[in-house]
Amino acid sequence: MRRTDLWIGGRWVEPARRVPLRNPHTRALLAEVGYASAAQAEQAILAASDAFAAFRVTPAHERADILYRAVDILRRRSEEAARVIAEEAAKPITAARGEIARTIQTYLFAAEAARSIYAESVPMDAAPRGERHTAYTKRVPLGVVTAITPFNFPFNLVAHKVGPAIAAGDTIVLKPAEQTPLSALFIADVFREAGLPDGVLNVIPGDGQELSEVLTTHPKVAFVTFTGSPRVGKIIRAQAGLRKVTLELGSNSPLLVDGGFSPAELDRIAQETVAGAFSYNGQVCISVQRVFVHESVFEDLLARVVAGAKRLRIGDPLDETTDITALINEAAASRLQRWLDRAVAGGAKIHCGGRFHGQVMEPTVLTDVPADAELNCEEAFGPVVVLWPFSTWDEAIDLANDSKFGLNAGVFTKDIERAMAAAERLESGGVLINQVPTYRVDHMPYGGVKESGSGREGVRYAMEDMMDVKLVAIRHGVFT
Ligand code: SIN
Repeated sequence: MRRTDLWIGGRWVEPARRVPLRNPHTRALLAEVGYASAAQAEQAILAASDAFAAFRVTPAHERADILYRAVDILRRRSEEAARVIAEEAAKPITAARGEIARTIQTYLFAAEAARSIYAESVPMDAAPRGERHTAYTKRVPLGVVTAITPFNFPFNLVAHKVGPAIAAGDTIVLKPAEQTPLSALFIADVFREAGLPDGVLNVIPGDGQELSEVLTTHPKVAFVTFTGSPRVGKIIRAQAGLRKVTLELGSNSPLLVDGGFSPAELDRIAQETVAGAFSYNGQVCISVQRVFVHESVFEDLLARVVAGAKRLRIGDPLDETTDITALINEAAASRLQRWLDRAVAGGAKIHCGGRFHGQVMEPTVLTDVPADAELNCEEAFGPVVVLWPFSTWDEAIDLANDSKFGLNAGVFTKDIERAMAAAERLESGGVLINQVPTYRVDHMPYGGVKESGSGREGVRYAMEDMMDVKLVAIRHGVFT
């Protein structure tokens, strides 16, 4: 049986305790995972803080080279990495391979960004008293970054924090999700082999409030970056005090589908809606959850989405033909069962799915969901999509905006005026025209408004938050 340790200061450290980790789909025991105590979290922060003294002045080309070497190692070990995701997160192997391909892109973008950290010269004579001064800015790393990451993209959402931090010259303490520690330990090993100096990346699996509080309140922590639920995001924001914080929280992403599409075009939209709603069982922050469809094509699109959902195959994550697997844990399955029961009691109609097999939820398509039901208002984070008809474009935009979230919104329309109205008026961090909200490539700015969070990821954008602007002003002609 594999027994894992903590990665602190460039060596494997005996943990405070070990906890069994199981494959959520097969229940097979994968490892006894070492968990850090609060004191070990502090040890990791101090290791990162010590490492910062040298890493902050490590030249950008050396930081880039480390990232390029990590990319080469990850390419060589990509199938092994994909299997780790498939087993610990129950992500279908084909999707897990897709995640590794994206992770490689994210680290490549970080390597490139490390070499292009530009700043500016300041036109000092624009102000009275500015004459005889020359000023420029530098972008400088902040120090120790703590990263708290979720289970759903255990390689790529880690890469979105670790990659920019290394590129910026920061050092990192990473606490991965309890469900997916093996992916994070894998990446620690990749960076060890890539020659990242000791203490720059520290990985401490663990759980509990005491541990998290050390990561968000320790005086040596300069920046906290978190992806997860709004509930935890609010706690972190309150604990972090004056530190900078980036919060990537959830959403109940809307998709607006206009009228005027041909049957073949509706086939395509339905196919992309099904992929956007059910990939990785809908456990994606930008999963398609609420679809607003023009009444002229509502029934046609609904029939196609239902047919597509019924074609999805439930199976083992390691089976090449699997689309749907077990949800991450029992709590997720019972929450979804509860939310579905309440929606149905309020009048929701189930067009397909709606059944549970242990931790597996069948892909479920609903209409007539009460406006105040959780499956409409909250983030489902499961294989559920709700369709609504609308008659005017304004109404569709208002319905989409009637949410406490705002991460990505998708729109299908052939009308440029409607596309522009959606781009203007949709309350979200990103508006994707003729695309589902689930679309993401890894250099795009990515982040939310309202309860979907604050700050942006997408390597360059994350780096802006992970660096400070420092001014240097030189007065001349004084002592001559
Ligand atoms: C997320 O679930 O927040 C990330 C989605 C993605 O990167 O595709």
